[in-house]
Amino acid sequence: MSEITLLAIETSCDETGVAVVRGGAGKVEVLAQQVASQMDIHAATGGVVPEVAAREHVTALQVMLPAVLREARVVGKDLSGIAVTVGPGLQPALAVGVNAARALAYAWQKPLVPVHHLEGHIYSALLRRAAVSSSKYQVSSKSLTPTYLLPATNYFPALALIVSGGHTQLILVRDHVTYEVVGTTRDDAAGEAFDKIARLLGLPYPGGPPLSQLARAGSATAFSFTRPMVDSGDFHFSFSGLKTAVLYAWRALSEADKDQRKADLAASFEQTVVDTLVTKTRQAAQAFSPRLLLLAGGVAANTKLREALSREASRLGMPLSIAPPALTGDNAAMIGQAGIFAYERGRQSTWRDIDASARLPITAWPRQ
Ligand code: KG4
Ligand code: ZN
Repeated sequence: MSEITLLAIETSCDETGVAVVRGGAGKVEVLAQQVASQMDIHAATGGVVPEVAAREHVTALQVMLPAVLREARVVGKDLSGIAVTVGPGLQPALAVGVNAARALAYAWQKPLVPVHHLEGHIYSALLRRAAVSSSKYQVSSKSLTPTYLLPATNYFPALALIVSGGHTQLILVRDHVTYEVVGTTRDDAAGEAFDKIARLLGLPYPGGPPLSQLARAGSATAFSFTRPMVDSGDFHFSFSGLKTAVLYAWRALSEADKDQRKADLAASFEQTVVDTLVTKTRQAAQAFSPRLLLLAGGVAANTKLREALSREASRLGMPLSIAPPALTGDNAAMIGQAGIFAYERGRQSTWRDIDASARLPITAWPRQ
């Protein structure tokens, strides 16, 4: 099959992503990509206001679409199609990317490849960055284009732990673009819990990075919180009870203690979340015997989680692939990566047939 070239657009939450990817048959090159974060804007309100996010996506896309195409040296007629995140996410935010993709698909007469946001996170961990030639005489700008490859050995079924501000899911990947959700959160997502506790402790949004930074100065055993749902007999999660427990522990501290014990509270909370995620992943791994474990999503940037899951994977004798740090947060390169595999398997729509869908299930496209 000839190479597939896709423009990819991601606007599901508070990052605007645009990328151009090229590949097929297990290989994806990221020709160009940009991410514009709205973090500073949402930091002022302590969270994402959907209408504000949508307006920012419009402004960002106007600048990024031409810039990324130029950088990739690609024009509309070179494209095989346009991959776009159609859900899940914030409806007004998703609609901006979807409508931009539809307009371009109409103008250029190209197919659209609708992508589920979590497929992007899954492919960001499944594909690995190929080593760049080390010979200093061979390095050209072409060889510096990041190329991502599938693992060399069998990797399906793979079990993916996706942890972000909006999602906490265990997904069994039975084959390319074929998924089964085996566990999900009943309430808050893991990243959301980090963000809320960070806010309680007076840390800026998004709270994951500053909270884990603060946790380094504290003791992870200073407070003992129940690991939620670890004995529930299923693979689901719940973080809202933990949030309340941390809130009560915080309120019980005297003002004088608050400054001193803040780091202990952060460390104990982080440890509880990490232990819970790792325990549930182990239970699912024992039930489904995957050939590969995957870790992706914004919270996959957390060092404690990366280390704890790596240790667990070695104990289980299963390989673990973690999304590269550059692709753990939301971006369009991962949407393009997943888009290539979906396009190859016939997932192509016209501009008329796609729509943003805030609650889209990952099983929306039955295997063709
Ligand atoms: O995947 P992502 O960029 O956006 C969503 O799809 O939600 O994830 C963002 C989330 C935020 O909740 C942020 O606090 C969390 O990922 N996060 C972290 C860390 N870095 C980002 N949580 C814990 N530790 C981190 N180092
Ligand atoms: Zn995400």
